[in-house]
Amino acid sequence: MAAEFRYKKLGYVALNATDIEKSAAFYENMVGLDPVGVGAQGEHFFRCSNDHHNIVVYPSDTGGLKRIGWQMEDDANLDLAFDHFTEIGLNPQWIDKAESDALQQGRTFRLVEPNSGATFEYYAAIMQFIPNFSQKVTKIARLGHVVLTLKNFEKAKPFFIEQMNFRVSDYIEGSIAFMRCFPNPYHHSFAIGGGDENRLNHVNFMVTDIDDIGKGNVRAKHSQVPIVYGPGRHPPSDSIFLYFLDPDEVTVEFSFGMEEFPEENPRLPRMLEPSLDTIDYWGGFPDPRFAAKGPIEKAG
Ligand SMILES: [Fe+2]
Repeated sequence: MAAEFRYKKLGYVALNATDIEKSAAFYENMVGLDPVGVGAQGEHFFRCSNDHHNIVVYPSDTGGLKRIGWQMEDDANLDLAFDHFTEIGLNPQWIDKAESDALQQGRTFRLVEPNSGATFEYYAAIMQFIPNFSQKVTKIARLGHVVLTLKNFEKAKPFFIEQMNFRVSDYIEGSIAFMRCFPNPYHHSFAIGGGDENRLNHVNFMVTDIDDIGKGNVRAKHSQVPIVYGPGRHPPSDSIFLYFLDPDEVTVEFSFGMEEFPEENPRLPRMLEPSLDTIDYWGGFPDPRFAAKGPIEKAG
């Protein structure tokens, strides 16, 4: 059976934090998410849309990635995905209703993505708030993308295309592949890069205004948040970016401007030149702490 299920979007990213109060304050005041509440495990829910959550921060002994939540187009596509993942031996498991209720989500299943060891979660329904995200600190348009660094980049790339139904928008041969979760139009909701170990590379929020980048830059400096790359401009996408570190040194990105792809007859992926000029038109280069930390929680 082909991977023909349809995604709605990257739904949420669950992160681990060693100092939950410090991280909760960072995601509210530095990133600018709206706090939604605290769950039974001490996890803090945040949103930047009408969804109940787009980021969840869990208290843990190690900071980094806990899981990635994918919202499917509807329940029928959720079931198609479940059947496909079962057929290819990924052993997806529905979570208990008590747990999906606590997440304010409809039916939800999880599996271990075999290249990264990361937990991927799938659901279609999530509780919606009527009042929109406040945008009081940052005019975030959406949770943008999540990027993983993978030891086995070459093997992982076809897996995500063929088995996860992602489409490559652009790539840098042997090092980065930017992917959209079909048929979501955004240039990338997910990307993988090659590296020395499997880890979370960064989590991105798309902002609506260049002022959000500038204000974020000033806010980071005033609150001793390390800026590890930018502000700069990525030539391939023309997007303006700023990367900074959360309290566990996980890299967080603000960017604005992203190409959208039609579902039918999209342009072909480009193979981009692997040079720093490809990455920052303004000539900046990343700090060594950029995307250096982000351990992936092992399932179970
Ligand atoms: Fe990014």
